[in-house]
Amino acid sequence: MAGSASVVSATALPRQADALAPAIREFRLVAAPGQSSLVGAAHPETPVWTYNGQTPGPEIRVRQGERVRLLVENRLPEETTVHWHGVRVPNAMDGVPHLTQAPIGVGETFAYEFACEDAGTFWYHPHQRSHAQVGRGLSGPFIVEEREPYPVDRDVTWMLGDWRLLKDASISDDFGAMHDVSHAGRIGNTVTVNGAVMDSFAVRAGERIRLRLVNAANARVFGLIFEGHAPRIVALDGHPVAPHEPEDGRVLLGPAMRIDVVIDMTGKPGSRFKVVDAFYKGLEYRLLDLGYADDSLGSVRTTPIPVLTANPVPEPNLALARRHDVVLGGGMMGMMAGALVHGEVMDARTMMRHGLAWAINGVAATGHVHEPMATLERGSTNILALRNETAWWHPMHLHGHTFRVLSRNGLPTRHREWQDTVLVRPRETVEIAFVADNPGDWMFHCHVLEHQAGGMMGTIRVA
Ligand code: C2O
Ligand code: CU
Repeated sequence: MAGSASVVSATALPRQADALAPAIREFRLVAAPGQSSLVGAAHPETPVWTYNGQTPGPEIRVRQGERVRLLVENRLPEETTVHWHGVRVPNAMDGVPHLTQAPIGVGETFAYEFACEDAGTFWYHPHQRSHAQVGRGLSGPFIVEEREPYPVDRDVTWMLGDWRLLKDASISDDFGAMHDVSHAGRIGNTVTVNGAVMDSFAVRAGERIRLRLVNAANARVFGLIFEGHAPRIVALDGHPVAPHEPEDGRVLLGPAMRIDVVIDMTGKPGSRFKVVDAFYKGLEYRLLDLGYADDSLGSVRTTPIPVLTANPVPEPNLALARRHDVVLGGGMMGMMAGALVHGEVMDARTMMRHGLAWAINGVAATGHVHEPMATLERGSTNILALRNETAWWHPMHLHGHTFRVLSRNGLPTRHREWQDTVLVRPRETVEIAFVADNPGDWMFHCHVLEHQAGGMMGTIRVA
């Protein structure tokens, strides 16, 4: 399955609009076990969890400003919810069990409804036992198109997945294994693009492609190199950024992050070029080839890469910002002495026995219900200074808001990029700023899903 064109689209049923209310786009998602051919016909199909029978789930594609209603039916053997990652929704629509809604019970349906105010590349996934439910295949792309069409020849989505498969192509069911929790998370052994191991992605000479990359892996970080090509990054986590080439030529994508790149297909008809994932030293591998068709679309465009229109995110007022220190602690090679668990001091050993290995500001969270780590006044600008005292990478995600990444280790970032998930390097300090304009209790957590399950989460209250 290459690109969005071949992905079966969700059933969109335009509702009868009355004279006053704007039309609502309605989608139905059924979460249920299924089968999928992840590794090709030479291997058995893999039992997976699906939305509408497929993994990834159907691409939901709407226009900026539209209102959507998403009916989620749970036919899984356990409770679930859906979180619309990166979409700034009202709190009650955020899909966090026990915090913003009761879990969707087996056999039940929940209706999510919200307006899509920001254009961009987003995605959806469960927030109930995420490490296991996402790891079994539950996730899908959520694309909000700009009001003005973006001038490219093709708009393509690649959902990057990472699976831990056994010899018979079934999913290893060691979800939550303590070694994964306390180290880099559950790194798999099979990487897929749109749910399949892909040998080659068909392109034509002269094409200009907008490629929407979504990292839907539990824990794997990607560092993609497009050999022979010069991708330009035009959006991060859905939000426009000044078009630029990736640092070191590697498109760096932590779990849950999205990057839109524009690539001019400058190769010759009939040629092939590798796309390599070079993030883990010594473990580089070929993701797939760009395979050029024998004909061409014409000469490569010489027009500059167009800049996307900014989304209506409120601009932080740094002069009046309140600063909050956020210390990320724990993990192997720098294990903390212990942390607060349910308000009691617990030593690291006992924590491990309870499946915990991480803490934010000395608190290891065990579920979704806990006291907020900070309470922010509605409308105020806040800077979170994230200090990573661990030896590991952490993609830190804030719900309900989009923040600017101000600095890394004290140096201002070049693009002051908008993100909802910021990849924090080992021992790095990253400052982010945002206007707390969306009232409610919001999750703030590491998107290495095993780190989240192992305590690296908290909530932030916007009062
Ligand atoms: Cu993508 Cu709290 O999640
Ligand atoms: Cu982490």
